[in-house]
Parts: sequence; C-alpha cells; structure tokens
Amino acid sequence: MPVPVAPGRWPLLGHTPAMLRRRFGFTSSLYARGDVVRVYLGAMETYFVTSPELTYRVLVTDGNDFRKGAMFEKFRPYVGNGLAVSDGVLHRRQRRLIQPSFHHAAIAGYAEIMARAAAELVRPWRPGEVREVDHDMQALAVAIVGEALFSTGLGKAAIEEARRSIPIILKYGMIRVLSPAFVEKLPIPANRRFDEAIDRMRTIVEELIDNWRAEQPDRNDVLSMLLLARDAETGEGMTDEQVRDEVITLLTAGIETSALALSWLFHEIARHPEVEEKLHNEIDEVLGGRPATAEDVPRLVYTRQVVNEVLRMYPLWILMRRVTKEVDLGGVRLSPGTEVIISPHAMHFDPRFHDHPDRFDPDRWAGERAKDLPRGAYLPFSAGAHQCIGNSFAMTEIAIVVATIAAAWRLVPVPGEPVRVKYTTTAYPSRLPMTAVPRFP
Ligand code: HEM
Repeated sequence: MPVPVAPGRWPLLGHTPAMLRRRFGFTSSLYARGDVVRVYLGAMETYFVTSPELTYRVLVTDGNDFRKGAMFEKFRPYVGNGLAVSDGVLHRRQRRLIQPSFHHAAIAGYAEIMARAAAELVRPWRPGEVREVDHDMQALAVAIVGEALFSTGLGKAAIEEARRSIPIILKYGMIRVLSPAFVEKLPIPANRRFDEAIDRMRTIVEELIDNWRAEQPDRNDVLSMLLLARDAETGEGMTDEQVRDEVITLLTAGIETSALALSWLFHEIARHPEVEEKLHNEIDEVLGGRPATAEDVPRLVYTRQVVNEVLRMYPLWILMRRVTKEVDLGGVRLSPGTEVIISPHAMHFDPRFHDHPDRFDPDRWAGERAKDLPRGAYLPFSAGAHQCIGNSFAMTEIAIVVATIAAAWRLVPVPGEPVRVKYTTTAYPSRLPMTAVPRFP
C-alpha cells in the first residue's frame, strides 16, 4: 500500500526544516493524511503513526516486534545503557531491579518527603513576592527525586549540575534527533554545549558512585540498591558504568517532566479561575489545614482531573521505535530496521478523540467520561514494556505539591510579556513569573 509523505519535504534535508520550525504544529496535522505517514529526518525515512490503535500496537500488543529507535540512539552518549534506552534481557533485568523503589509502599514513604519539600519551598514566600515558578518547580523536583531516590540527597554540586545541564541536553539532543547525522559532527556551539553538559553530568554522578564505594553504606536507597545488586546466576554486580547510566536516566526522566507539569498546572489554573476555585475547595475539604499525605491522593479527585488535563496538554512530543522483524502496521509492511515515530502530543490533540483539544477542561476526566477513549489516545506515560516506571511517583508528587502550595497560596500571572511555549522534547514555558498571594491574608 502506498504510504503518503508528509507535506513540506526538502531535498536532502527532508522534513527537518519543517519539524524544527513548526514542531508540534507539524505533527498534530498529520492524521489528516492517513494512519501512517512517511516523515524524513534528513535522509532517514520514518513512519509516523497517527491512529491510537496502531500506536497501542507498536507500544503494547506487538511491542516485542519493536526496540528502542534512532531517537534514543542520539541520547546514548548521555544515558548510555540506562533503562530508557536498553532493550530485551538487560532491560528486563534492570527494570525488575529498580521496580521496588517505585512500589506502592515506597511511594507512600516518598509522599512525606514531597509534602515537606513543598512546605519548605513556600515557607519564605512573602505576600506580593514575584516567583519564577518554572525555576521553583525545577528546584523542588530535583530536591524530591534527590531525597526520595538518593536518601542523603544528591549534594549541592550534583543538584546544581542537574538543574543546569539536563535542559541543555534535552534541547540539543532533540535537535540532533530531527537533524541529518552530519550535523552532530560540526564544530558548532550547540554540539559543544551538548557534549560539555554530558561530561559534567557524568562526572558528578561518577563522583557520587566513587564516594559510595569509599564507604559502602546500605542506605536503602536506589543508589545503594544498584551498587549492592548481584546477578542471581553469576553473582556478579553491576559495572560502575551501568550504575551511572541508570542514575543519570532516573534523574533526567524524573525531574524535568514533573517540574514542567507543575509549572504548566499553576499557569493553567491561574488562567481558569473556575478551575482554581474548585481545586481550592477540594484541597481545603480534604486536607482541612493539615499536611497532605499519600492517603489524601485518591481523595483529591478533582485535583487529579486537573493533573490529567495538564498531562494531556503538555505531554512528550515524540517517541521512536525500531522494527525488529517484519510487521504489518495497518496494511503497511515494515521491514526490520524501519524507524517508527509515535507522538503522545499528536494523540492528545487529535480532535477525533478529544473534543476541542485546545481547550483546558479538567471535566473531560470526570467520572466515566473518559472511558470511551480508544486505548492509545491518551498516553502521558507511554505504555508497554517501557512505560514510565515513575508514573505513580509523579502523580503522587504533583498532587501533593499542588495541594501543599494551593492550600495557602495563589500564584497570579505578572502582567506584561506573555508566556510563550518553547519546544524541545516537550513544551517549556519561555518564562513564568507569578506573584504569590496568600489565600488567607
Ligand atoms: C509527569 C511526569 C512524567 C511523565 C509525563 C513521564 C513520561 C514518561 C514517558 C512517556 C516514558 C516512556 C518513554 C517510552 O515509551 O519510550 C517514561 C519513561 C520513564 N520514566 Fe517517566 N515520566 C514522568 C515522571 C517520571 C519520574 C518522576 C520518574 C522517576 C523518578 C520517571 C522515570 C522514568 C524512567 C526511568 C523511564 C524509562 C522506563 C523504561 O524505559 O523502562 N518518570 N516517562
């Protein structure tokens, strides 16, 4: 079956210029061309999937016929063989090992850290003070992941480095994904910044590992667990490189995503006073003035609707998979080695499945309303073997942080320069200054 080609293809450069220029706008209109559309990243042919059914097949039903694709290869100099990039036996083993740190019982313990960190963030706030909310949320997310997964915290230097380097790596890494291969060999500032940020992150994490090796403490955290793990058959431990790759993966996957969701959440509720009021009423009723705990999360029903809607509107842009054996994808035969692109963002903005997708409407997640959505139409955490390992961690974190902050404070946009969206692997606010106003002066 002939597969349509996306509009805007250039000789040699393929769709790279259109993708770089139009970003999410380019991918969210492709569904009109067909369920599978060809997109060229430079000279590389890829198959972009626009239907939820086929997306779900790639990720879950036929997941064994796919591995991680070219996009993840571009990040390999950074995340090495960490969980987000590894496949097959190694991925299964590592995932099994890391999973207990994300079990229900572990998350209940992290909830206390999350509530404490959010309370510490707002403690010095003064009425009328302008906060850079995106910076605050990033600092908070770093502190939470640092303390929850690396019990003594990451240390000041590692925290600073994570905050500085991860956004740089994601930004330039995404440009590499979209660009022809020769671009990464060019001696341009973008490549230098990417390489330097990687070096700095790796050095910092290697120091964490060296310090641990010097003392060998079992702190019952992820770092100790990774370093103490022994293979059941061979009795061998993990190499320091593998531990470093897993730590870097967890830091990268676990910080920016939650920080951005929190930032956009405060941005959206400030623009929708009726949502903000309902959220405040629920938080006041459920918490009654005491700190939020893990048990409150299921009772914060409307708050979770708001979180679901933020994750719908601000998800990851694209993910890639590579075909491992010949597959039929909606009548299109794909041979091994073919690159497939799926897009949580395109799914979430498809008007065939989400009414008025540009509208921020937490009520679309009320009660049974979302039950008719086809599988694959809402994928904030992806699905299948590589589904986000931190999804309950993130949902708990966002709900607890929002409940803690919004119990006492409103964040009001500062008039002036509007908040614009900057695109990398996902949507970033260009800036997010907001005035802190006490709810009960
Ligand atoms: C709102 C917050 C978050 C969002 C939207 C999110 C989204 C995602 C998505 C879409 C994937 C799947 C990628 C794929 O299928 O190729 C993923 C994987 C992953 N996430 Fe998250 N994530 C979030 C929070 C977190 C947190 C808090 C952690 C850890 C503390 C985390 C750790 C990971 C890891 C390790 C993977 C790789 C899993 C694997 O490949 O087996 N994420 N995340």
